[in-house]
Amino acid sequence: MIHSKRSILYSFLCAFHLQFAICSSSTHHADSFLITCGEAKTPTEMEDGRVFESDLGNTLVNISPLSHTIVSNFEMGVPKILSSARVFTTSSIYTFTTNKIGRHWLRLHFYPVNNTRFDLNSAVFSVEANGITLIHEFSFFRDNLSFPLFKEYIIEVTGSNSGKLVLGLLPWDNSIAFINGIEILFVPDKQFTSKMLSIPLGSVLELPTHVGFETVFRLNMGGPNLSPINDSLWRKWGSDESFLVNPAAARNVSVNPSSIRHHNGVSTDIAPNSVYATAQEMADANVNNQRFNISWLFEVEQGFAYFIRLHFCDIVGSRLHELVFDVYINNQSAIESFDVSSRAKGLSSAYFVDFFTNVSMGSNRILVQVGPSRLGGYLPTAVLNGLEIMKMSNPSDSLDGRLAAYLDSNEIKDSKKMRMIIVISSCLGVGFVLILLVLIVFTVFLCFRHKKKPKDDDDDGPVAWSPLPMYVGNSGTKFSSNTFGSTTASHSLSQILSFSEVRDATRNFDKSLLLGSGGFGKVYKGVLENGLVVAVKRGNPRSQQGLVEFKTEIEMLSKLRHRHLVSLIGYCEEQNEMILVYEYMAGGPLRQHLYGSNLPPLTWKQRLEIGVGAAKGLHYLHTGVAETIIHRDVKTTNILLDENLDAKVADFGLSKFGPSLNQTHVSTAVKGSFGYLDPEYFRRQQLTEKSDVYSFGVVMLEMLCARPAINPTLPREQVNIAEWAMNWQKKGELEKIMDPDLMGFVNLESLRKYGETAQKCLSENGNERPSMGDVLWNLEYALQLQEVGNGSGGDVDGISDIPDRIPDVESVHSIDIETVSDLESNGT
Ligand SMILES: *[C@@H]1O[C@H](CO)[C@@H](O)[C@H](O)[C@H]1NC(C)=O
Ligand SMILES: *[C@@H]1O[C@H](CO)[C@@H](O)[C@H](O)[C@H]1NC(C)=O
Ligand SMILES: *[C@@H]1O[C@H](CO)[C@@H](O)[C@H](O)[C@H]1NC(C)=O
Ligand SMILES: *[C@@H]1O[C@H](CO)[C@@H](O)[C@H](O)[C@H]1NC(C)=O
Ligand SMILES: *[C@@H]1O[C@H](CO)[C@@H](O)[C@H](O)[C@H]1NC(C)=O
Ligand SMILES: *[C@@H]1O[C@H](CO)[C@@H](O)[C@H](O)[C@H]1NC(C)=O
Ligand SMILES: *[C@@H]1O[C@H](CO)[C@@H](O)[C@H](O)[C@H]1NC(C)=O
Repeated sequence: MIHSKRSILYSFLCAFHLQFAICSSSTHHADSFLITCGEAKTPTEMEDGRVFESDLGNTLVNISPLSHTIVSNFEMGVPKILSSARVFTTSSIYTFTTNKIGRHWLRLHFYPVNNTRFDLNSAVFSVEANGITLIHEFSFFRDNLSFPLFKEYIIEVTGSNSGKLVLGLLPWDNSIAFINGIEILFVPDKQFTSKMLSIPLGSVLELPTHVGFETVFRLNMGGPNLSPINDSLWRKWGSDESFLVNPAAARNVSVNPSSIRHHNGVSTDIAPNSVYATAQEMADANVNNQRFNISWLFEVEQGFAYFIRLHFCDIVGSRLHELVFDVYINNQSAIESFDVSSRAKGLSSAYFVDFFTNVSMGSNRILVQVGPSRLGGYLPTAVLNGLEIMKMSNPSDSLDGRLAAYLDSNEIKDSKKMRMIIVISSCLGVGFVLILLVLIVFTVFLCFRHKKKPKDDDDDGPVAWSPLPMYVGNSGTKFSSNTFGSTTASHSLSQILSFSEVRDATRNFDKSLLLGSGGFGKVYKGVLENGLVVAVKRGNPRSQQGLVEFKTEIEMLSKLRHRHLVSLIGYCEEQNEMILVYEYMAGGPLRQHLYGSNLPPLTWKQRLEIGVGAAKGLHYLHTGVAETIIHRDVKTTNILLDENLDAKVADFGLSKFGPSLNQTHVSTAVKGSFGYLDPEYFRRQQLTEKSDVYSFGVVMLEMLCARPAINPTLPREQVNIAEWAMNWQKKGELEKIMDPDLMGFVNLESLRKYGETAQKCLSENGNERPSMGDVLWNLEYALQLQEVGNGSGGDVDGISDIPDRIPDVESVHSIDIETVSDLESNGT
């Protein structure tokens, strides 16, 4: 009855709001989007009967910046939604305004459409959603992926992301990103409410919130593949045959799906009846009274925690309590003497159990087994009807543990060539790319041959470095031999410079070239023999302290390459010198642009862009490499600007691999800069990447207020910017203390977002602080608000009405839908 009431409401709504995908689809799904990216102007009906809509023209979907680059190619046998893709040349976001707060399925379709403009096959990009990294720098070509690629995730939409699911497509360096189709569907509240048993058996856990999930396996044991149309929640189920360790040990059984019954809140939303109606049971168990297990083996990515759901239904017994067996996961007992019909409250009744297991490094498999009970008197068989395995995001909010090994891989690394491939392929067509590739490989080859000779020719400039000499961190030993072809993981991208080279570059450390000085030593501007302008940091005479930091910096920076991190070009260790040579950042430190100099004030938009750049750099440090790297000294003097005011994070002297920090080092606690120090780190001396988030919050306030983090000359309550500004933020009057140069030029919505984000960064408790990924999204969002606000051209001082494109606005539509969801939750 409730259901029909809902249907009426929906059809009523549909009559008015045709943009909803749910309207055109035959099933009734609250909060769903079926989106085809690119070509389609009219809804596209899929083979499975679902109707996908264009990504334009739905007011609840926003693309920013909007890319009009669309490629399409209708191939035989390729589903229509895969035939076109939207292509992005810069980091871009899709923002979906959902009606409900809570978990949502996010399903992504990728297919490298063959076209004459872009080589999608070799595009390298990352995908993120609400701060969780879904895919890190992947490429069909490089990773040898077969296509189409379908990925399914569960992402939480929280009140703090204002009921939005933000999907980011981030091209790697100068590559491109693309996407073909997006499905979003609210996960029914009852889907994940049961407790999980941890394996090895121990605690009983709740499914954590704020964790992202990726479906890695979903199988219908003993049954056929099920397509989204066979499942009330559009899930796909595969066959289990290929995962059976010994197929002869199992035989499939099935009953009529309509005979499946439900009790205890299990419904077809948990799994369709066709899943419960088929199973694998023990082959010939009755005949020989053999004792063995049916085993399924799954390869998974190591170093992640996994959620495992097993579906059971007694379709083989003729009486209650007849089918009793044991279940094992990873050779550990998971359920002993499992009486299915009793737990499910009947024969042919659906039942499921959830488990949780860590797959540690060094193992990459999950083994699921069922076998007859050790106790006698039961049917000598065991069944499994269905299985789901989901990977859970790690503490750095990532679902992709791919190592950053590619950073060293030259053909991808070389961004200029990458861009050239794209430009030329778009001009000349795909055919030429192959020839070009051959040429590039040849050039690279020549390059390497060249490098075999001693270092007298460095004309390549910073982008063309091939892996030069390798630096072995702890011993200080240098190998100037060529490392091409070596399998060592830690190639250094920086080169060893001789002291004479450095001296010549800086005209013997001429005072007129001095850029600044700090704790570590002095920084000079210099010009290398090859004409490259560099910043040369010369350490104070060797102290043990400085040496450690020197080595840390080389070790860190040598492994890292990112558009928003200052690149280390080389270093020199001769004659007791500690010299680091970086790319020159013409704009100098951010702090100079904020106060204490005569530089023109930065606009709000520039400040936001700088914040976004720096956040990207830190986000990369935290999540982009195999081991989380904590910067530990985030401040406005360590954010440098280039001639275009693009921000890069610098100074890794204090960085640590986190979070398993070796605390034995005495001076660990005192590192960092006053005014930026995370109070929690200070108290507990426990370093996490959230300490950087705190410091970044301070940087955000400095950018807003244009004053130092600590200014002892001010009245007591104003000395510490974090305390002072947070008092104003809590009063909702942050605009009163912003840089007077900004007054009247800041969109208040943008400021509000900014203030909230800074406030969260400065949370006392590290766990409550957002990840850098979240901070990044929020800043990009604030930037978007500012840009749209200015675009409207109205009164800049107190913009209260925001144009339609901004997804934050509660439109009439979403209010209507909200009512429906309320009704729904009352009804169920
Ligand atoms: C891509 O299209 C071109 C011409 O349109 C064709 O020659 C080529 O074989 C296609 N490549 C693939 C992988 O289908
Ligand atoms: C690429 O993948 C295919 C099948 O997925 C496999 O047969 C082939 O060996 C792989 N090639 C490489 C170079 O890994
Ligand atoms: C069930 O087993 C039979 C015989 O082993 C096989 O032919 C059939 O394909 C199996 N069915 C499914 C759905 O796996
Ligand atoms: C899945 O749905 C299709 C279309 O409705 C139907 O033909 C097919 O029999 C269904 N398969 C199962 C296993 O229910
Ligand atoms: C389970 O045990 C088998 C045989 O004892 C062994 O080969 C396998 O590696 C074990 N698997 C796991 C995941 O521990
Ligand atoms: C089934 O597997 C478990 C765990 O790997 C093992 O302990 C048990 O002995 C096996 N049972 C039989 C009957 O082989
Ligand atoms: C899984 O691993 C994480 C991190 O290593 C740890 O915190 C957690 O307690 C482990 N959980 C179980 C159930 O072993």
